[in-house]
Amino acid sequence: MSNKKQKIRIWDLPTRIYHWLQLLVVVGALLSGFFAPEWWLGIHVWLGYGLIALLVFRIAWGFFGPEYSRFSSFIFSPKTLISHIKGIKEGKPLHFFGHNPLGALMIFALIAVLLGISLSGLINLGGVENQGALAGFVDYATGDIAGKVHLFLAFALIAMIFLHILGVVVEGKISKSNLTKSMIDGDKPLLEGEKAPILRPTLFVPAILSIAGIGLILVVGSVSMSKVPASGFIAMPISQTYQSECSDCHIIYHPSLLPKNSWAIMMDDLSEHFGEDASLDDETRDIIANYLVRYSAENWDSEAANNLLLVDKEKPIQITATAYWKLRHAKIDEEVFKSKPVRTAANCEACHSDAKTGRFADENISIPKPKKQP
Ligand code: HEC
Ligand code: HEC
Repeated sequence: MSNKKQKIRIWDLPTRIYHWLQLLVVVGALLSGFFAPEWWLGIHVWLGYGLIALLVFRIAWGFFGPEYSRFSSFIFSPKTLISHIKGIKEGKPLHFFGHNPLGALMIFALIAVLLGISLSGLINLGGVENQGALAGFVDYATGDIAGKVHLFLAFALIAMIFLHILGVVVEGKISKSNLTKSMIDGDKPLLEGEKAPILRPTLFVPAILSIAGIGLILVVGSVSMSKVPASGFIAMPISQTYQSECSDCHIIYHPSLLPKNSWAIMMDDLSEHFGEDASLDDETRDIIANYLVRYSAENWDSEAANNLLLVDKEKPIQITATAYWKLRHAKIDEEVFKSKPVRTAANCEACHSDAKTGRFADENISIPKPKKQP
């Protein structure tokens, strides 16, 4: 065998599978996060759980995997980093089998950003959507901030992916080796006269034990944490009076959909209720008014309640007149609201199967297909 053809195994099969799976999961998460309709949230979240699983593997492999997957093999001194950059500038780069110093920085940054994205996503899911392991522990305001961090990190990730690809292309050109190919077959050629270095092997037992251990803690921890009731929702009795007196003309609106002042104003004058006379005797009216005020938007920490607190000044008793409602439904064609199964924008239940509960979860949204008018 001639020396020229000698190769050395840099990336073992698990590392390569991890790398390409990670690419698929990240691209899927970015596409579903930016472009998919709201009701794809479930898919986006599952991709997020997949990402966390991949990161657990990568971190365990970073300690116990084969030589070039180990973090310790690509922690470089600033001096090495500087001479690497100098080498690139002069067209005579230093030779590295595994990650080069710039590539190594990118790997650490990518892992940090991916961990940050997973955590901020989980906090956002718990606080804003009242779902997932943190639903019982995070309030809306915190979840909202986490959502902004999540979005910022997603943009940072996109920029880093481009930098990473640029680095692979540039480094490959300068070092005249195909880095993408070695992430597929795992090998890199030895330079002429170069001796294969002695490599630390994978420590399978500690690697598998730590993956199983962390996995178990995460699964058991999040399953038991998700048993804690979502903090955005409170226990509310069902008022028979409200159900029977206010359901003649439309759906029963969840009390969390308007602030207490709005309910008070509405209940003060039912004789001119959206052009209808919805008058009740004083006793019935008071029972309903007390109930609605007691469970008004101020008492909930859900996404809908937090956003519907700010009503329209001219139409304070109309949910569909609030800026938030209009914003969230701006993309829906007027025709859809008028079409047969929906009939009016105020018919929330036509598109939100969980409208009764006040949740309005993303995965429970579906716009019914318009039926042909007979
Ligand atoms: C006689 C029929 C009638 C009765 C009874 C009635 N409503 Fe209404 N209500 C209407 C109409 C009509 C609208 C406007 C619906 C639309 O915009 O399509 C409306 C709208 C509403 C809205 C605003 C929905 C939106 O567009 O944001 C709320 C909230 C509401 N009603 C609450 C109540 C409550 C509480 C009661 C019981 C005290 C009640 N309604 C009883 C006819 C009625
Ligand atoms: C024709 C169908 C339709 C009707 C009727 C409708 N919605 Fe929606 N709603 C949607 C869609 C679609 C979205 C998601 C919009 C988006 O992409 O952000 C949405 C989003 C929302 C959201 C935000 C949910 C989230 O987690 O992002 C709330 C809250 C909401 N609607 C409340 C209401 C209320 C209250 C009513 C009734 C007064 C109502 N909707 C009537 C279709 C509808």
